Amino acid sequence: MMHGGPRRSFSRRHLLAAGGAVAVAGLVPAPWTRCAVASYAMTVSLVARPSKVSMVGANYPETEVWSFNGGVPGPEIRVPQGSRLRVEAQNALGRETTVHWHGIRLPNAMDGVPYVTQDPIADGGRFVYEFDVPDAGTYWYHPHFASSEQVGRGLYGPLIVEDRKPIQVDRDVVWVLDDWRLARDAQIVDDFGNLHDMAHNGRLGNTVTVNGRIPGAFKVERGERIRLRLINAANARTFALDFGGHKPVVVAYDGQPITPHEPSDGLVVLGAAMRADVVIDMMGKPGERYVVTDRFYARAHYPLLDIAYADAPLRERPLDAPMSLAANTMPEPKIEEAERHRMVLGGGMMGGMTGARMGGRFMDMREMMHNGKAWAINGVAATGHMMDPLLTLQKGRSYVLMLDNQTAWHHPIHLHGHSFRVIRRNGKATPYSEWRDTVLLNPQDQADIAFVADNPGDWILHCHILEHQEGGMMGIVRIA
Ligand code: C2O
Ligand code: CU
Repeated sequence: MMHGGPRRSFSRRHLLAAGGAVAVAGLVPAPWTRCAVASYAMTVSLVARPSKVSMVGANYPETEVWSFNGGVPGPEIRVPQGSRLRVEAQNALGRETTVHWHGIRLPNAMDGVPYVTQDPIADGGRFVYEFDVPDAGTYWYHPHFASSEQVGRGLYGPLIVEDRKPIQVDRDVVWVLDDWRLARDAQIVDDFGNLHDMAHNGRLGNTVTVNGRIPGAFKVERGERIRLRLINAANARTFALDFGGHKPVVVAYDGQPITPHEPSDGLVVLGAAMRADVVIDMMGKPGERYVVTDRFYARAHYPLLDIAYADAPLRERPLDAPMSLAANTMPEPKIEEAERHRMVLGGGMMGGMTGARMGGRFMDMREMMHNGKAWAINGVAATGHMMDPLLTLQKGRSYVLMLDNQTAWHHPIHLHGHSFRVIRRNGKATPYSEWRDTVLLNPQDQADIAFVADNPGDWILHCHILEHQEGGMMGIVRIA
């Protein structure tokens, strides 16, 4: 199996690795060895608590947020591939919470889903997460308890798993994107969970931040090669970034390597929770500025930030070095033999869904809305904490899930505990069969995803527009 053994063997490995560090340090060249040596447990402590941050600048009061360790985003956790991560999570929020490790293929008990994989962490309580990180890439962490409000108030942070053999770049940069609904006094508008957001596009805000603040200029030098790790931590907003004449080359989606390519129209599209690693050769003119624009929503394009060039170039021609990342460790699904299941997404305004099963009986749309729900998967709206599985899969078998969006809205659908290949869209094979953990479905879209059900447990499948998730677009995939 891909995961480490029980705790017992962990302490032995820990000692071996630590001993190894003493013995070989300085003898074998970096960087691979440095990673190998470092791959014993790394311990991080996260405290979820209210705090204040300067988000919109000095002319406004600080914004009251909920944060990990006082900052938005929370601390960047960076670990070498194959190492073990131990996180001591403390809850000082004044309400229950959990931490979920989005995209990491870890043992079910560490997945951070309240009532499904663990009890919520009580206020004043603590929970230790400990797991191996099998795959390199760009991930993130966030609560999975009352997610719309908790993530929406700022609880999230980047989790970077370093490649054993990194590609050559001048800088590795992380941009965590978020979208906030702020009032004039720079405070978060307290209308989480309203039915309008839930039944439409989710909680779209009015203030977009990069790494927790309204971004200033991003300074570069001509000729510089940058690996930009984009993480969409917004509750609902989809981004389509236009880099103002630059040519972003996508090298990974959701942490997983893909054949390096320029995306169609040059736009890097990220639904909620999705990540993209792009390599950009900064070939603009010294001293000039270029605007990065978000073009996702028609009639609502806006400039995100400026790329500002230094007066002196770093180099005249782009670096001549490969961009392909080494493959990760997911087992290859056997598509021919795979068992296939259709998952129909229904509900929302203008969707034509008449109702769904909720808490064991059929409710019409009006009654659903009255009970705070508007969405369903295969005719079931998720309610309460205990859910019957939507699907029960056999451990080790290959599966194709045919996601069928019968709604008028976008849905970034996320499966926990696995990465999957997106093999078909709207009846056509996809050009790269890319691996992902979250797939964005346009209105009325269909997408087939394929994976080996190798990780036992009850895993959540849900829309990552957090208001849709809370509105019922969620279910359990059981692997036994
Ligand atoms: Cu990003 Cu169910 O999670
Ligand atoms: Cu959705």
